[in-house]
Amino acid sequence: MPSLGVKKSMDKNENVCVCHRVSLGKIQSYIVREEPKVASQLSNCLDSGTSCGWCIPFLKKLHKLHSEGMEMDLNIDHEKYTERRDAYKQRKCTHEDADG
Ligand code: FES
Repeated sequence: MPSLGVKKSMDKNENVCVCHRVSLGKIQSYIVREEPKVASQLSNCLDSGTSCGWCIPFLKKLHKLHSEGMEMDLNIDHEKYTERRDAYKQRKCTHEDADG
């Protein structure tokens, strides 16, 4: 069934960091357990955010939501998320080829 444009939240078992297969649930648990002072400390959660960098803004958002006492949800369809991440990686590779 085609999407009718209704925003879907990411499930806990879907990966925020696709490179390192770190799920939303794992990141949420890490944030609650460790209370990282800055979002970059989320790299200690199974290396999330340390490869292509696509997920970094989303990790920052989750960290910010928690620090503001809000629910740590990402209102994005995971299929679209991974498609956009693939396109991001391709653009990045193209730039690296041109630079190198
Ligand atoms: S998706 Fe997290 S570093 Fe690539």
